[in-house]
Amino acid sequence: MAASASSLLAAPASSSCGAISPQLPRGAPAAASVASPSRHSCYLLRASPSRRHRSRFVANAAPTMQPPAESRVSTVVDVDLGDRSYPIYIGAGLLDEPDLLQRQHVHGKRVLVVTNTTVAPLYLDKVTWALTHNNLNVSVESVILPDGEKYKNMDTLMKVFDKAVESRFDRRCTFVALGGGVIGDMCGFAAAAFLRGVNFIQIPTTLMAQVDSSVGGKTGINHPLGKNLIGAFYQPQCVLIDTNTLNTLPDRELASGIAEVVKYGLIRDAPFFEWQEKNMPKLLAREPNALAYAIKRSCENKAEVVAQDEKESGLRATLNLGHTFGHAIETGTGYGAWLHGEAVAAGTVMATDMSHRLGWIDDSIRKRVVDILKQAKLPIAPPETMTVEKFKNIMASCKPKGRGRRN
Ligand SMILES: NC(=O)c1ccc[n+]([C@@H]2O[C@H](COP(=O)([O-])OP(=O)(O)OC[C@H]3O[C@@H](n4cnc5c(N)ncnc54)[C@H](O)[C@@H]3O)[C@@H](O)[C@H]2O)c1
Repeated sequence: MAASASSLLAAPASSSCGAISPQLPRGAPAAASVASPSRHSCYLLRASPSRRHRSRFVANAAPTMQPPAESRVSTVVDVDLGDRSYPIYIGAGLLDEPDLLQRQHVHGKRVLVVTNTTVAPLYLDKVTWALTHNNLNVSVESVILPDGEKYKNMDTLMKVFDKAVESRFDRRCTFVALGGGVIGDMCGFAAAAFLRGVNFIQIPTTLMAQVDSSVGGKTGINHPLGKNLIGAFYQPQCVLIDTNTLNTLPDRELASGIAEVVKYGLIRDAPFFEWQEKNMPKLLAREPNALAYAIKRSCENKAEVVAQDEKESGLRATLNLGHTFGHAIETGTGYGAWLHGEAVAAGTVMATDMSHRLGWIDDSIRKRVVDILKQAKLPIAPPETMTVEKFKNIMASCKPKGRGRRN
């Protein structure tokens, strides 16, 4: 059975604004800081001779495939969803390893890589090589979408379908998402809908996508009135995280991803939060071990939540901490003006402040949240243009009817 990690704070599933209540006694220090990943004894970690870690949330886990022993994969996190289980491979240089994609996860002979105008010049050739090297059986085509949150819409999605239909892809093809969360969400939704569902692989290239959006199967597009309102739950075959892709990521995008890393610490992993408080300068300086650990712990936390509540009937809503306010900021300022993680950071401070005012947490926790987000150089307040009225209007128009979520 999957054990829950200790939390500094926890969002009650019923909390529509993602406000937070304490799991620890007020003012109590968070649990001891992380000396090594193996302190998380609730996971079964198995180190191979190549010192690879495998994290698995064990209830009735289906067997998943192993990468070759000489692989650059340093960590495998299994997302345990019965017959929809899949591995998250994490390591530096995984795109230089054709076997990983080819042997285990590409279905059929035809692959459509979905990417954008920024990522294509950086990584499309590499991915095409990884898919086709020594493999005459696979042909790769690509569709290069315009870059940006403002293009996460029906018109852009249609370009993926146009390409797949014009190229006569059939149901045995594989869609590969190469890019950040915008590409991952759109490609995943396209894979869910094309011919009622085709094989799908995530190759996330932003920190945001590596720690959050590529894992868990939420896919979709925005509506002018609200974020991610149109979509599907659709799980990939695998997630392949080559941490070297972060070398080309702009600093502002790196910081945006850190907002979601902080979230895991707050909602369910106090030792991870304390580790971040001590190691934020290393994360911002892209120290490889620190980044690899943050990605691994984030994926483990997300995988554990998703394995327990895939379709968000309760626990998964904790992953939305700060997002109700954050999504309102993104919608209200125009998609793309604020990065997703920036809006989530300001939203997290608002949720924390609300929890404090409701008497659920004490001021020391609120201050720690503000401090860590400041350390990460993330915004800690919404823009002035977001008046109370504007928040209320947007949040009301996006609110789901009855039980349910909207992230
Ligand atoms: N599905 C989920 O569970 C989930 C979770 C969190 C966020 N999201 C969604 O993810 C999106 C945000 O994702 P994001 O922050 O990755 O934004 P993004 O996809 O817009 O990527 C950010 C920018 O970085 C560029 N880029 C990507 N990889 C790069 C690289 N390696 N080097 C240089 N530039 C690179 C992109 O082209 C883009 O300009 C939002 O739409 C959000 O709603 C979804």
